Amino acid sequence: MTLEEKMGQLAQYPSQWSDTGPSVPAGRKEDVRAGKVGSFLSHYGAEATQEMQEIAVTESRLGIPLLFAYDVVHGYRTIFPIPLGEASSFNPDLARRTARAAAREATAGGVHWTFAPMIDLSREPRWGRVMEGAGEDPYLNSILARARVQGFQGPSVAADTTVMATAKHFVGYGAPQAGRDYHTVDISKRTLHEIYLPPVYAALDAGARSVMPGFNEIAGIPMHAHDRLINGLLRNDWNWDGVVVSDYTAIWELKKHGIADTDLSAGIQALEAGVDVDMVSGIYGDTLATGVQEGRLRLDDVNRAVRRVLRAKWDAGLFEDPFRYGSPEREDEVILSDSHRDLARTAAQQSMVLLKNEDEVLPLGDGVETLAVIGPLADDARTILGEWAGAGRAEDAISVLDALQNRTGVDVRYVPGLPDVRSTDMSGVDDAVDAVRQADAAILVLGEHYSMSGEAASRTSIDLPGRQQDLADAVTATGTPTAAVLLNGRPLALSTLDDSVPAILEAWYPGTEAGPAVADVLFGEVNPSGKLPMTFPRETGQIPIFYNHKNTGRPPVQDQDYTSTYLDTHWTPLYPFGHGLSYTSFAYGAPKLNKGSITINDTLRMTVDVSNTGDRAGTEVVQLYVEDSTASVTPRVKELRGMKRVHLSPGETKTVRFAVTPEDLTFIGPRMRRIVEPGHFHLHVGTSSADVQTSTFQLTGSTTPIPVTEISSPTQ
Ligand code: NOJ
Repeated sequence: MTLEEKMGQLAQYPSQWSDTGPSVPAGRKEDVRAGKVGSFLSHYGAEATQEMQEIAVTESRLGIPLLFAYDVVHGYRTIFPIPLGEASSFNPDLARRTARAAAREATAGGVHWTFAPMIDLSREPRWGRVMEGAGEDPYLNSILARARVQGFQGPSVAADTTVMATAKHFVGYGAPQAGRDYHTVDISKRTLHEIYLPPVYAALDAGARSVMPGFNEIAGIPMHAHDRLINGLLRNDWNWDGVVVSDYTAIWELKKHGIADTDLSAGIQALEAGVDVDMVSGIYGDTLATGVQEGRLRLDDVNRAVRRVLRAKWDAGLFEDPFRYGSPEREDEVILSDSHRDLARTAAQQSMVLLKNEDEVLPLGDGVETLAVIGPLADDARTILGEWAGAGRAEDAISVLDALQNRTGVDVRYVPGLPDVRSTDMSGVDDAVDAVRQADAAILVLGEHYSMSGEAASRTSIDLPGRQQDLADAVTATGTPTAAVLLNGRPLALSTLDDSVPAILEAWYPGTEAGPAVADVLFGEVNPSGKLPMTFPRETGQIPIFYNHKNTGRPPVQDQDYTSTYLDTHWTPLYPFGHGLSYTSFAYGAPKLNKGSITINDTLRMTVDVSNTGDRAGTEVVQLYVEDSTASVTPRVKELRGMKRVHLSPGETKTVRFAVTPEDLTFIGPRMRRIVEPGHFHLHVGTSSADVQTSTFQLTGSTTPIPVTEISSPTQ
């Protein structure tokens, strides 16, 4: 290969959108002929990808096939709930299945490589991108990262129905200062290792073939030039050797960060730090060869990166058959297939979280003959798909209103009340109130327009936007039984809504089958089982607020001076991590331990009886948390270490079992090594992080280093 051809393999360019779908401009086709392009971004669809592949393999000198990459984040054309919503299911098997289905559709459309899963743990709901991740907890994030990688890649990336997964973004992008997207990140080494790195490790341990650095910096070094974290941690310490693809123009942005004064310097720093592929900035393709010619960049570093890209193509089977992925017949067969739509409906049902349900307003009973549906999002078939909706289309999706109107036996009266969620025009509210007065029950569909979350969609206030709260107040003042359905991509501060509306169902952005799934839950055909993967504060000013915080020297005691509280609001969240109600009730027996004391070589077994004490079948997500009572580094008040979804018929009791190993009790010690220390530990088991029963045991022996690289590589 010539130096120019090598650089070509490292260059990735975007397709552009035309009326008929993605297309590649003429000049870029010439580049493909000249061997100057290794992969495309957002070029998808069987016909479009095959056309470009044909040019690459038949008209370029070396005939090296192209890779087609796309952000298949929560579905390709059949859109599943946003990842934060799906995380509410606490169900890794579901995440594996939706990723698998997304890969089946994407590969039929010629896609080889997805920029997912997003593994950015985040404690920052102002940040719009929390919708793409799994929330605030390292354990839950790790389990779902692993499941999603397994789903995308299947047993082998060589199969023509699997895509190469990208663990993104490496690392800490979810902690931008003040919640402003792309802003500086400044986190301690301890927090980085204990909180932010475990999901990365889990994704790579599950075999993710690719990693994308974040737009952020860590400790003064932008991630696209972070030699110590990319070459040092990922490649040397963790022995991972996949493809590192830059984020969009992020190599060029090293100049804006202020660590490079020329394109060439930016390119050299990125390549030397271990970034193999340049997405969009064009620096590797246009400029980097001069670095080698001038002796400023070693050819070995270039060769290493090229080898990784070629190996990815080899492993995908493209040298054997460059056309084995995209297929119009397979597109017809799998895209929006009945089984994918069914899965989308199941996933949406499992991701909904019943935040409150006073007076059993939900489920809607047989007495509801006239139903008022209020709120501009009710008939918004685009918003229900959420951001990063791949090739998803509003015309394939079923809105909440459509689904409710399709039900027999209910007369649905729809009045939006407001022109859109951000509008201050209240002139439609009176009509909404009239409709509600004449109805047996009202459903308020409230939340954020899809464009209010995702990339570059940070908010300073996470209140309900616009005048939606006023609309809700006017509706509930009628006295008609009312439930709110929320469509949104982040935790919201809902204190006022919680005061005014008796029932609230958090539906997130549920995807293509949003409407039917919401209707299933509202009418009780499905009993909600979702749990919050992220804390909902009372007020925006409580952010960052998360369940696994430290105790401090002055633990909060409400209304007690000189403890860690606020003057103007309660210190606790409105809805804690792990919270989620059901239409039935569950009771927990006293947890039992098989031993009161274990050694470093033992496994502790805990059992707890969980009963359905209501009159409907339901699924409870039983959660296990550990707490180290005293340690050489300040412990967190609770850390999730287990979860089980348990289905119970009315009156049924099941014994739920958990195993706790010393590895579950480790932390990074004072010398930054992972250790386990003897002492007393509490095990908390319950229905949410704030509603648990506690038992205590002892670990005997001496402080022991634990040879796991990162905590929480749980394999559930
Ligand atoms: C920018 C985003 O940060 C990244 O997550 C995405 O994969 C790329 N754009 C490509 O769309």
